[in-house]
Amino acid sequence: MVRRAQIQAGMLFLALRVHLGAAAAGMLRVDGAQVGGGSGGADTISHSLTVVQRLEALLVQGNGSDVSLRVETPNADEVKVIQAHSLVLSLQSPVFEEALLNRNGSTLVLKESSDCAAAFDKFISRYLYCGEISLRLDQATPLHKLATKYQVTVLQQGITQYMTQNLARDSSSGHVAGWYEYALQAGDVTLRDSCLQYMAWNLTAVLQSGEWVTISSQLLMSLLQRSDLILQSEMELFAALEAWIIRNEPDSLTAENALRAVRYAMMPPRELFRLQTQSSVLAQYQESVRDLLYMSYQFHSAPPLQMAKYFDVNCSLFVPRNYLSPMWGSPWIISNPSRDDRSTSFQTQLGPSGHDASKRVTWNALFSPRWLPLSMRSMYTESGAMQPTRVDGGRPRIIVTPATSSTDFAGVNFQKTVLVMAQQQGKVVVKHVYNFHQSTEENGDFLAEADLYRRTSEYLIDSSLFLHIVVKPLYQTLITTKN
Ligand SMILES: *[C@@H]1O[C@H](CO)[C@@H](O)[C@H](O)[C@H]1NC(C)=O
Ligand SMILES: *[C@@H]1O[C@H](CO)[C@@H](O)[C@H](O)[C@H]1NC(C)=O
Ligand SMILES: *[C@@H]1O[C@H](CO)[C@@H](O)[C@H](O)[C@H]1NC(C)=O
Ligand SMILES: *[C@@H]1O[C@H](CO)[C@@H](O)[C@H](O)[C@H]1NC(C)=O
Repeated sequence: MVRRAQIQAGMLFLALRVHLGAAAAGMLRVDGAQVGGGSGGADTISHSLTVVQRLEALLVQGNGSDVSLRVETPNADEVKVIQAHSLVLSLQSPVFEEALLNRNGSTLVLKESSDCAAAFDKFISRYLYCGEISLRLDQATPLHKLATKYQVTVLQQGITQYMTQNLARDSSSGHVAGWYEYALQAGDVTLRDSCLQYMAWNLTAVLQSGEWVTISSQLLMSLLQRSDLILQSEMELFAALEAWIIRNEPDSLTAENALRAVRYAMMPPRELFRLQTQSSVLAQYQESVRDLLYMSYQFHSAPPLQMAKYFDVNCSLFVPRNYLSPMWGSPWIISNPSRDDRSTSFQTQLGPSGHDASKRVTWNALFSPRWLPLSMRSMYTESGAMQPTRVDGGRPRIIVTPATSSTDFAGVNFQKTVLVMAQQQGKVVVKHVYNFHQSTEENGDFLAEADLYRRTSEYLIDSSLFLHIVVKPLYQTLITTKN
């Protein structure tokens, strides 16, 4: 039959195999008999693969079928008819079980959207009959929909997992925002949160994908409001927002809300001036953001502390996001991180205010793979042993301290953020974001699951740990309650 050829072609795009009861079936991947010696004297002859092949043939040829499934698609003439077996369907899906009990005659009519109807053969013949499925990025959503509708819970979980592990995969027009919208509507919280976090932390990839200008205004706003976005600079975000507004021509309230979520104070004044003179979108909505632009110019022209004395300002306008540009921090690649302590130094601007941006602060960063927390060290002191600072069993730690202390720092609180990359399906993605003031010990779980001693750790990229340290000057007086 024609369907079989499609299934075979689909298998070329092998991305993930979801095994049903893989352990139970023994999963022998050889044809014919395999005899395994058991230590207890019992041997096993396994032909489970042959059984699976016979089951698939049974569906294709329709022998012994006691129910025919009519798959109907609204507004389409084509109806797909599959000769199936109620025993197999009921075994795999409580929804089929219920429908088959209440059926009227030998036909079950199923109404499916066109994308689900296209994936239906795969769902039935590869998964329900054979317990194994290969899928491509574009098939994940319809298969997830089918697994959800027919309550095939293990397949649903398997596809959620496939999707969360394939967020960074190349696709012609992008797929993550589409998956996010689907997860939102399907109520899959795990998938929704994974997609949103990926978009926030690998924002540049999303902004550069064809999908960006198609995202909903709700998703746009949830991204714009986050302080943990990782991107080059606020200008990058503005340019992407401008493209979104030009493409979508939203109502003025939506456009104003979006434009007011841009943190103009984080742009150098010359960039701000450039936007004011060159951006058609900003020209159109000038009135709606006038107060924010005014405050940003004030912020740039006086010491921030003095500004706070005169003006009652309190908003996210002054809270930096995780910018990757060199003014804000530095990448740090540590080869063989489990070996020994490493240090590095780098410079950042004292602050984003035009008043401070030309002043530099030098930072020293120290990475220890096996740092022993104070609480644990006291145990050694009590037992009379020499107090070690690094022993087996310690935890990774980074401290970041200024090379010189300066009175210029008064009123500025430097929040440090370490971005940790990991490898996923051959792509580098930001896996963790840790915020701290001076030491990652403030975060109980720094690199807790990274397992740097394991060669195959997903955190080791060519046996190196890829970090990026961002230093965010926060003018407390501008962003917290004033007395
Ligand atoms: C199905 O029936 C056909 C003839 O009716 C037979 O040739 C074929 O072997 C059968 N297939 C299976 C899997 O029993
Ligand atoms: C079952 O089929 C009969 C005759 O075709 C029809 O009158 C009846 O309404 C059907 N019942 C249901 C629940 O579809
Ligand atoms: C994700 O972001 C990190 C940090 O900017 C970058 O190194 C990595 O290449 C990005 N991955 C993708 C798939 O864009
Ligand atoms: C400052 O903003 C925060 C967050 O928006 C808010 O909780 C706080 O009450 C504000 N403080 C003042 C003085 O407006």
